Amino acid sequence: MLTEEQNRLLTEVEGDAPFGQMMRERFWIPCARSAALVADGAPQHIRLLGDNFVAFRATDGRIGFFDEACPHRGASLVLAHNSDCALRCLYHAWKIDVSGQVVDVPSEGTRASTFGKNIKVNTYPTFEGGGLLWVYLGKGDPPPRPPIPFLDLDESRMWVSRSVSPSNWFQGVEGTIDSVHVGTLHQSWIGGNYAKDDSPNPSIALTLDSHPRYEVEDTPYGMKAAAIRDLADGRQYLRVTTYVMPFVSLVPAGNTDREGTVFIAVPRDNHEHMLFWGLWNEDGPRSDAEKYLTTGERDPDNFVTINEGPNRTWGQDRDAMAKGHFSGFTGTLVDEDLIIQASQGVIQDRTREHLCSSDVGIGRLRRRLLDEIAAWQNGLLAHDGEVPDKVRPLDIIAEAGASWREMV
Ligand SMILES: [Fe+2]
Repeated sequence: MLTEEQNRLLTEVEGDAPFGQMMRERFWIPCARSAALVADGAPQHIRLLGDNFVAFRATDGRIGFFDEACPHRGASLVLAHNSDCALRCLYHAWKIDVSGQVVDVPSEGTRASTFGKNIKVNTYPTFEGGGLLWVYLGKGDPPPRPPIPFLDLDESRMWVSRSVSPSNWFQGVEGTIDSVHVGTLHQSWIGGNYAKDDSPNPSIALTLDSHPRYEVEDTPYGMKAAAIRDLADGRQYLRVTTYVMPFVSLVPAGNTDREGTVFIAVPRDNHEHMLFWGLWNEDGPRSDAEKYLTTGERDPDNFVTINEGPNRTWGQDRDAMAKGHFSGFTGTLVDEDLIIQASQGVIQDRTREHLCSSDVGIGRLRRRLLDEIAAWQNGLLAHDGEVPDKVRPLDIIAEAGASWREMV
């Protein structure tokens, strides 16, 4: 349970909210699928931390990332033409090159090419990695790239989708630290797709035992949360989620620590978040069968649409439940996640909850972030120490008593 003030600190990101300010100044923010940005293609609306931006890929492949409004009279540059390494506003055809410089104002006649020489839109540094565009919205120098293992993998080894959820971003992050819900909420999805002989990830079926014991450890970049399940043969199933502040959770999804699934919950504002859901394999392509299993034919840029409907049932299929489907949401596990998070309320009221022993990871996550915000407000870091180049999740069946801390 949190106080009202703590709940605000962890959820609010707009304007002067401390967490939003820290996100701007200290972190690269993933904001779009790279594949959604096509050279000379449609500019993309990007909403982050309550502000609106436009991103586009120029003719030569460079990325432009601007404030959304045209510097002339504020029309949206999402509507602009994209050609010749520049956007051209629909309203009066002002042309803004990929560096943000106004280079043509046709209505000025002979002064058209010089009129805008002192007018520039705000631009922001970006990089592309892991199939995503990342942006830095702070005022200082950008930080190092996050220590995640898939930033340099090619398309065949990293796949990612984008969904928009009508709930606060922190509900998205909390869901990824909570291993018990995997074998509860997602039991039919896992049972149907993974608990079989040719499963691409047989050990995930072990999460169907919903009584793990948790061990959690803070790290300079975030934390690690281990769910430990005792197996009938005396060994133990170790499932370690690695959390990289503030958006990224690396969750095991394979038979080695070289592959996994990533959940990235990014605040559009206080009330909505984007979820990037991906799979990676550092040693080879993910199987097409698994890719299809997780996406079907759906558009990876608009992967899940959440609509609570007139009776707050989100399209739940009671007939499927009567036939044994646990949740009644028969799409993928992401449908189940985003719907259950929306059902908690747009911003969950954490002053009224009752946590139990399976919420150890969530309690520690909150404490970790509250400490980080407090330290940041004093110009400090909550945990000094070296951040490795790459961090990974872990999914392993080990002898009883083995220490996961020495393995990941
Ligand atoms: Fe989930």
